[in-house]
Amino acid sequence: MKIELNNNKVFFKNLGLRKEIHPFWLRERINGEEHLDKVTQQRLFDPTELKNNVKINKLRLINNFLEVSFNDGTYNKFSIQDILNEFTSNNQHLNKVSWDASLKVFNNFYFEKNIFEKKSMHQALINFYKYGFVIFKRVPTKNNFIVKFANSIGSIRKTNFGEFFNVRSKPNPNDLAYTSLALSPHTDNPYRNPVPCVQLLHCIENEVSGGLSTLVDGYGVSEKLKNDYPNYYKILTQIKVKFQFIDKNVILENWAEMIELDKNKNFKQVRFSPRLDFVPLMDKKKLGLFYDARKKISELYNSDKFKIQFKLVPGDLIMMDNHRLLHGRTKYDINEGKRFLQGCYIDYDSTHGKIKYLKRKFNI
Ligand SMILES: [Fe+2]
Repeated sequence: MKIELNNNKVFFKNLGLRKEIHPFWLRERINGEEHLDKVTQQRLFDPTELKNNVKINKLRLINNFLEVSFNDGTYNKFSIQDILNEFTSNNQHLNKVSWDASLKVFNNFYFEKNIFEKKSMHQALINFYKYGFVIFKRVPTKNNFIVKFANSIGSIRKTNFGEFFNVRSKPNPNDLAYTSLALSPHTDNPYRNPVPCVQLLHCIENEVSGGLSTLVDGYGVSEKLKNDYPNYYKILTQIKVKFQFIDKNVILENWAEMIELDKNKNFKQVRFSPRLDFVPLMDKKKLGLFYDARKKISELYNSDKFKIQFKLVPGDLIMMDNHRLLHGRTKYDINEGKRFLQGCYIDYDSTHGKIKYLKRKFNI
């Protein structure tokens, strides 16, 4: 990537392509003190009040800077790197690595005072995007600390289960999570729109021998399905099913794909909660294919080949990507002792925002 000048025009060159940069694009980025607030990086002028046909009077490339004089009398010295940065993907450092049951290194991080302001938090969040989860150890377990933890990364996303929820068996539960039954791998809240992005689960007490936590990489499983069963993959990425949750005062519904792709046909999100999905009425042949595909992906999600299983100890806090990972637990015996977890959700703007902030702070 580079910047070139020709005849008072600025060109951006990349992979054999050469495109002119609109003078107004540069004009609205002028960053002198009188034009830009240095603390907030917000403009001190309204670009919609400028004339759109602004032209460049004078141009100069010196070392790593581009000097531009515009015909409205303004001048600016742009950092070439700043301009190039605008042409690269915002989240290119957030690459995913798919995994299966052979994953051995969990990349645990130890909680410490002010961790949210430290370089280690940046690394933890990078790992979170890489593997879809990260575990913080020795997180304080008193006074609903999970709320403070979540709000130190971003803002809690409140759901129908409240600001945060307590996971322990209770009488008359409104969700199977609040029993001692086994929970097969699932994603949370597929019936919400949008689905909460990140789930935090904090172990407060765990005296039982069962109740192991399970995680499955939905991204890894969907890649496997794409390679080995392309017709199953195709139908699961195309058909929107209804996910529904009925509570006392509300009925939540969302129509969505079990494997959702982005506009470039790349992985975006999985949804899986076979107690809550309703497949639309389609012709018999298509429904037959859909049911085969759903059965196969369920087999893969539940297979020992893809599942990791471990015991959470008090102080462990898992942060997991609810658009990518499935989670569950083995059953436990309430007569053995207490098992108490607290959970809440945050969204990607929190985790992205924190990564960007720490990246800038430590110049990473
Ligand atoms: Fe869950």
